[in-house]
Amino acid sequence: MSGKNFYDYIIVGSGIAGLFTALLAKDAGNVLVITKSDLNECNTRYAQGGIAAPIGRHDSPELHFQDTIAAGGGLSNPEAVRILVNEATESVAQLIQLGVPFDTLDGEIALTKEAAHTVPRILHAGGDATGAHIETTLSRQVRLSRTKILEYCLATKIILNDGNVSGLEVLDTRTGSVEEFECRFLILATGGAGRLYKYTTNSEVATGDGVVLAYHAGAEVVDMEFFQFHPTALRLPGVLPFLISEAVRGEGGILKNVEGSQFMTDYHPEAELAPRDIVARSIVAEMKKTGSDRVFLDVTCLSPQLITTRFPNIYSFCLQHGLDITKGLIPVAPAAHYMMGGVKTNNWGETSVPGLFAAGETACTGVHGANRLASNSLLETTVFARRIVQKTRELKHSNNSETLPTSNNIVSLPLREKAASNSSPSISGLQSLMWNNVGILRSAQSMEEAAITLTAWEKLLKGIKSDRSSYDLYNLVITGRIMAEAALRRQESRGAHFRNDYPESSQAWERHIVFRKDF
Ligand code: SIN
Repeated sequence: MSGKNFYDYIIVGSGIAGLFTALLAKDAGNVLVITKSDLNECNTRYAQGGIAAPIGRHDSPELHFQDTIAAGGGLSNPEAVRILVNEATESVAQLIQLGVPFDTLDGEIALTKEAAHTVPRILHAGGDATGAHIETTLSRQVRLSRTKILEYCLATKIILNDGNVSGLEVLDTRTGSVEEFECRFLILATGGAGRLYKYTTNSEVATGDGVVLAYHAGAEVVDMEFFQFHPTALRLPGVLPFLISEAVRGEGGILKNVEGSQFMTDYHPEAELAPRDIVARSIVAEMKKTGSDRVFLDVTCLSPQLITTRFPNIYSFCLQHGLDITKGLIPVAPAAHYMMGGVKTNNWGETSVPGLFAAGETACTGVHGANRLASNSLLETTVFARRIVQKTRELKHSNNSETLPTSNNIVSLPLREKAASNSSPSISGLQSLMWNNVGILRSAQSMEEAAITLTAWEKLLKGIKSDRSSYDLYNLVITGRIMAEAALRRQESRGAHFRNDYPESSQAWERHIVFRKDF
């Protein structure tokens, strides 16, 4: 294959997953990066806490492995986790080589602790601006390279030839023109889908695009019922939720309810550093108990010098909104943060469609299971991006396109032929529906209502995709529908998936729910 519109690699998305993969792939072929907004707009940019790696003196890959498996609630793939922890040091070294300025202390990389890590192992940059530093470093390098970049362009359809990926249909969102590109390898790195929810820490681009593209191409999608809610996003009237990093609790921040009482010790022996899902649910319980829509994070016990140097970003954001966190309490509440599920991949990033790969939050490598350990996602992205490029280098020299073996027990979305809704689809309606019905606390009734409404909305939206906002809404509706149906099917509570009607975990559910489109 050759021609003006042919690329060895087409990468969709420009967060750490897209850009890191592009930088590795550029030596193996020509690369096109397509992104629907500005190159720097993505979830990575807003990541504060950092990147986990077992590089500390009292740490080891084995300890990191154990913590990751414990967080995953029985659903992490041990083989993928082993790869993650064994290849972590190489990832960090590569990021440093690319120019990411990780913070140091006494000449060594500084490490902090976050929830459910037994030792400090989180690297950070610019205090609490880790993601922003990674994003600007990688995007600068990509712009300096020969990589072709198309900004404000939206991937609308994967083109298949005999079941293999052969290209991509792309909409230029500024001109409305549609163009097709051919490729040997297509890598989906579009991030997550936090925009499904009324309260989220995610970028406006996180609309499930990669999951929907892959699903329509026949790829398997797995673990979609597991969506992580970050316990502490700023909750100020008129201000969009802004992440207040878990590292703030790692450094000693204390949660208090609106009556001023510390409460996390009532819920878990690790208190503020309990697993993320437990902290989020405990906050919801306290909010309900006190009739409030928020709790407070108190950092006044920390020195102002520590706060302003370790969390400069959070400090100045709050100050801009009239809150000096060295003196006053930070109002916080949970917000949608990270999609654990995604396009099912093997340990080389391959999906069930030949030629199609997925990276970062779009992919489900099996590392996170039912609950992601804090700061494992940037690490996962870099480790598996490297494997994607290694695999594609091998495939370039062979004609054997490998794919995942088909999963057992694949299910399709129920047809719900009679589904109807008395409201028309809108982003705000969708975000409220998902927040209220498929949020932190779930039940059969709430999820079934959501699934019916989303099915009805999907039917209404099918024929009217034309511009970025209509595609965003459509992709969110499909992603939400898969999520609601997966959550409804899982009749237990596990990790981030909590059902009031099935509050316990069940051994019978120690398995994955895999969806694939019926053609
Ligand atoms: C945080 O800084 O709390 C976010 C870290 C993460 O989500 O991994």
